[in-house]
Amino acid sequence: MKAQPKSLTQKAAWKLLASHQKQVQKVHLRKLFSDDPNRARKFSLKTAGLFLDYSKNRITDKTMDLLLQLARECDLKRKIEDMFNGEKINVTENRSVLHVALRAPEKAKIWADGKNVVPDVHAVLKKMEQFAAMVLSGQWKGYSGKSIRNIVNVGIGGSDLGPVMAYEALRHYSRRDLVFRFVSNVDGIDFHEATQDLDPAETLFIISSKTFTTLETMTNAQTAREWLLAGMGNKMEAVARHFVAVSTNAEKVAAFGIDTKNMFGFWDWVGGRYSMDSAIGLSTMLAIGPDHFRAMLDGFHQMDVHFRTAPLDRNLPVLMGLLSIWNNNFLGAETVAILPYEQYLKRFPAYLQQLTMESNGKHVTLDGRTVSHDTCPVFWGEPGTNGQHSFYQLIHQGTRLIPCDFIAFAKALAPMGRHHDILMANVLAQAEALAFGKTADEVKAEGTAPELVPHRVFEGNRPSNILLADQLTPSVLGKLVALYEHSVFTQGAIWNVDSFDQWGVELGKVLAQRIIPELENSQEPRLKHDSSTNQLIRIYRKMKK
Ligand code: F6P
Repeated sequence: MKAQPKSLTQKAAWKLLASHQKQVQKVHLRKLFSDDPNRARKFSLKTAGLFLDYSKNRITDKTMDLLLQLARECDLKRKIEDMFNGEKINVTENRSVLHVALRAPEKAKIWADGKNVVPDVHAVLKKMEQFAAMVLSGQWKGYSGKSIRNIVNVGIGGSDLGPVMAYEALRHYSRRDLVFRFVSNVDGIDFHEATQDLDPAETLFIISSKTFTTLETMTNAQTAREWLLAGMGNKMEAVARHFVAVSTNAEKVAAFGIDTKNMFGFWDWVGGRYSMDSAIGLSTMLAIGPDHFRAMLDGFHQMDVHFRTAPLDRNLPVLMGLLSIWNNNFLGAETVAILPYEQYLKRFPAYLQQLTMESNGKHVTLDGRTVSHDTCPVFWGEPGTNGQHSFYQLIHQGTRLIPCDFIAFAKALAPMGRHHDILMANVLAQAEALAFGKTADEVKAEGTAPELVPHRVFEGNRPSNILLADQLTPSVLGKLVALYEHSVFTQGAIWNVDSFDQWGVELGKVLAQRIIPELENSQEPRLKHDSSTNQLIRIYRKMKK
């Protein structure tokens, strides 16, 4: 009988990390810093224009050695190569995972199923650029002859979060004379609010859906078509001038009534949450222009090259991934806070939620065995400094350990008086306060009333990373996203899960399809759900009358 492969928790490095954690669990960051004046320098890394200071994690040299040993025992390097070589690492869907090809230079060769995919990628990019040039110059006319002034991206999940995040992040570079809107939710309010002040004659819809079957997107796309036709005298020919599609499914695009000439393709080896740099980024290209879009792709590519070639101990995404494993699996952190000190990154935490949790929120290993360890923590966050005046209380003094990723930039995009120095002082102060806290003696020495002392103590010893870049440019955004993509990959490779499928979203979709007619039927339906669902359906039917 074939021996079962060792589970992760049986690996030597995992066991060593577990006993090492017991030895260091009481060691405070205060001591680690006072023992080693070189600590900050030792535990930082600058690469591709991103500077990571990870010294405020609860780690020692030994921790890092063991985490790197774990990466080697889990064959991380080979797994990275497998991805870049187009191996079918998305095993449950039997697909290659090649988002790295979307930003590869034209001369690169990346193979999937015996075919170099890079020429196709660049052909689509050129088609997007030609289209963008026509729209941006006003040459592309709506049905009544007016130029396009409003662009509405209709999509959900990866077909929305990347575009909306990138649009917000790169607004500084965007065309201010054009209006960009994003419709994702099947709640009709989303469509209503996005379009209520727009003139259909000047509006272009980009229907973004990898599958072109997603309920929310198809419902919104139909509503968009009705809205357009109502405003254009019900002339069906208007649809071709006001709708383009981004999809892998030409058949469904044509069936919807969009001319496939106006379809921008991508491929099944691009996961939805890894697609913002594919044609799914068409709205981004329209907003920031083709040159900035190319600069963003180049930023992604620089991080790809670093991830593939840098040794594990000098590899930014690998280090971030391993630190996340340490915090999650060994220190018991259940969540991670993403805290950008850059208002333009306000949608970045939401974007990362899909990237991280849809990728690694898995309960079985690649071969279908129940995992012997926790997998993806919960990601959440808000821009600083706003969060400081709400949930940071819990991060500083609550009972849970919340590792934080602070993201900051040396230069403001719109410098204004003292704002940026104040912003930066805050991010540095938060990381310092979390790490070092304030002891009871320090609190007493300030003359605090004895009964208040416990309330004013900060335990500290709370881990954080600080990621610092020069300025938020398209290239830096590409690097940041690729950094997190590859950190997610690293964690998935250690946990041995399929980071590229998403079966967990299916059950709810199927059940919703069953419930829709039960809510809409004029006849009282015969319900066969559990008593709670049955009751709620009956009450809803009564209440909506
Ligand atoms: O339901 C999850 C999901 O499949 C995501 O993975 C994807 O990004 C999103 O839905 C949208 O899918 P599509 O682009 O096919 O409409």
